[in-house]
Amino acid sequence: MLKLGNKFANTETSIFTVMTSLSIQEKAINLAQGFPDFDGPDFIKEKTFQAIKNGFNQYANSSGLPILREAVAFHFEKFYRTKFNPETEITVYSGATESLFSTFMALVENGDECIIFDPAYDSYAPAIKLAGGIVKSIPIQMPTYEIDFTELETLFNEKTKLLVLNSPQNPTGKTFTKNELEKIAFLCKKWNVIAVCDEVYEHLTFDSHVHLPLANFDGMRERTVTISSTGKTFSFTGWKIGFSLACEEITKRLRACHQFVTFAVATPFQIGMAEALKVGDEFYREFQKDYLKKRSLLLEILTKSGFKPIVPQGTYFVLADYSNFSNEDDFTFAKMLTQKSKVSAVPVSVFYENKNSVQNLLRFCFCKKEETLEQAGERLIKFASENL
Ligand SMILES: Cc1ncc(COP(=O)(O)O)c(C=O)c1O
Repeated sequence: MLKLGNKFANTETSIFTVMTSLSIQEKAINLAQGFPDFDGPDFIKEKTFQAIKNGFNQYANSSGLPILREAVAFHFEKFYRTKFNPETEITVYSGATESLFSTFMALVENGDECIIFDPAYDSYAPAIKLAGGIVKSIPIQMPTYEIDFTELETLFNEKTKLLVLNSPQNPTGKTFTKNELEKIAFLCKKWNVIAVCDEVYEHLTFDSHVHLPLANFDGMRERTVTISSTGKTFSFTGWKIGFSLACEEITKRLRACHQFVTFAVATPFQIGMAEALKVGDEFYREFQKDYLKKRSLLLEILTKSGFKPIVPQGTYFVLADYSNFSNEDDFTFAKMLTQKSKVSAVPVSVFYENKNSVQNLLRFCFCKKEETLEQAGERLIKFASENL
């Protein structure tokens, strides 16, 4: 018998793989996995084609091509007015996912406690546990987006190593406010805790909500790993170019780990993304305007078809309550919806550490062409007329 051990014995296949396979099988519109059904700008593609043609096809530096690290520093300073040294404080990874993984592997030791918000992006808890850490979770109340800070405070102690913050947050769409971030910063400093901030949706905020990096709060720059990637902002999720910004002392540890995970990231795509990060303000204005329209369209479709959507403050996801249709668990309902309506969504329970907090919610994404969303709308309205 093979000595496989127990490490991944009970790990389920990612829900994104499951729902995407089901969507293909059912010929459904995939509003489950968060990838655009359109490409990013041509100038980024052109720059990457040119890089391939011009022979930039061998290993890049392990920490990332200098031109990309400089572009990351430029972008962060332009938007958030804080400088990071591209040589010693910025590292490039194969997407934010690898950046998160390398960060947890590099910093978390056996028995370290790590605080995450619940629900959360599904890679945090498994990666922390693989690194030997213990996950402590604090609920985000839905639909109010509230956090009980008295409860959060009780989670901090001498064993707390890090806190993971994702703002704007997948799957809820919560965008943390200045006041909330001040409280989080206070607790991290009080307990000497490192903050790992996943900011991949930094350019996707709506209405009066704005993205504020925790690294910018008083005393946080030296204890924060800021992680982002270019996949969402430039609509090339498949290129998997991610990066971290952290003080030199932390960055040394992150790079030490990253060199044994992927060593280096695809050279021509780094060149393309270095160009992308230099775009002017107009690009970001259009990007937000476009996504605001898509958000309105999806909210309208969901409301018309009998769901109760929660208006997201950021990201390209909408959580919607399906209790008008069913009291079944969200996985059963998501599967049935895909089969009957030919539109797929993600059951939100997969994002929860504490399954008792799960509500009747599905996550729909709106990073799709308007015609795709309209077609999904027609199908959902037809489904509602037959099932309400
Ligand atoms: C919160 C969050 N973090 C990280 C990622 C992964 O980013 P990347 O594709 O750059 O690895 C995603 C992708 O959906 C995400 O939603």
